[in-house]
Amino acid sequence: MSEDRPDTRLTSEGRMSAEHFGVINTPVYRASTILYPDLKTLKANSQPYTYGRRGTPSTQSFEDAISSLEGAARTVSVTSGVQAIALAILSVCGAGDHILVVDSCYEPTRTLCERTLKRFGIQTSYYAPGGDITADLRPNTKAVFCESPGSLTFEVQDIAAIAAAAHAGGASVLMDNTWATPLFFQPLAHGVDLSIQAATKYIGGHADVMLGYVSANERHAGKLHQVHGDLGLYASGDDCFLGLRGLRTLAVRLRQHQETGLKLARWLKSRPEVARILHPALADDPGHVLWKRDFSGACGLFGIVLKPVSEAGVAAFADGLQHFGIGYSWGGFESLIVPAHIRRTARPYTAEGPVLRIHAGLEDPADLIADLERGFDRLKNHI
Ligand SMILES: Cc1ncc(COP(=O)(O)O)c(C=O)c1O
Repeated sequence: MSEDRPDTRLTSEGRMSAEHFGVINTPVYRASTILYPDLKTLKANSQPYTYGRRGTPSTQSFEDAISSLEGAARTVSVTSGVQAIALAILSVCGAGDHILVVDSCYEPTRTLCERTLKRFGIQTSYYAPGGDITADLRPNTKAVFCESPGSLTFEVQDIAAIAAAAHAGGASVLMDNTWATPLFFQPLAHGVDLSIQAATKYIGGHADVMLGYVSANERHAGKLHQVHGDLGLYASGDDCFLGLRGLRTLAVRLRQHQETGLKLARWLKSRPEVARILHPALADDPGHVLWKRDFSGACGLFGIVLKPVSEAGVAAFADGLQHFGIGYSWGGFESLIVPAHIRRTARPYTAEGPVLRIHAGLEDPADLIADLERGFDRLKNHI
């Protein structure tokens, strides 16, 4: 594995130029059938590529580059972040097992557990983010699922402490690391066994691709690969190409998202209409100490809690924004805003007023602030 620093690895890993006439990024391979020269080779199973679903140079380049960034023994790519979450859980849990999930997780993770996994005999319970999980572990806990910070409330968890407790109880640790990406947080180095990423977000970076992956440490690599194959999962050559291309500029994009996000967060904090900002990189955020210890940066996604205001007031604020689209995704070049509907099971979550999630895009921050300022002028009529 390369000793280079992460920024250098983002630009250099996963290249196969010599096999592709010097072309820098591995081109798109679209393939189902892959031919063998003879029966002896087929029987020996000695070819690097055997069938489209089991990988092509496009998937291999993407997965190699990701494994290098994650410090992983193996990475498998899939068609979305949710598919990566499902694959990671299914590669460690089966009927009769229990999974302990962070209460601040991405809502579809909760839905997957409570609806489909339940049907297959996997039980789920939730732990409060920020605390010790020891008392939440059960004799049949096979997996602890973390997402830090959570993408709605931005609560940070002590991943190393969670991993130590989980491993002591014989459970594997899974983490959705989409917020930080492997550039700003390395799950496996903090004790996580399976690192999950919705590459749809910052790795794709342009709001035009659905892609996910799971990276495993040595102990989990074989099972992950086997279950990926058994379920017939894969990601297309086109999408892996876009993921690889996104990786090349991830470092500069992410630092700009971080800078603009912090500018917006600090400006919003000074507004009389705002009760609280949910952003672990702000010094007074409850998760700041852990964030500072473990993360090397923040992305452009954060939350704001408004002071109490009517639904019509929130709509007047958000609907008229010119530079913030109303949409559920994030990680692309564009700014977004969306209401956050927070559901909790382990411990209630209270907020002073409506919670909004903001994605700071790559526009000029001065234009974004002017846009938000006009939004607050509209909201004032509803107070
Ligand atoms: C934290 C988090 N994880 C996973 C996903 C799922 O990614 P995808 O939309 O690629 O399935 C999302 C999507 O919004 C997300 O916010």
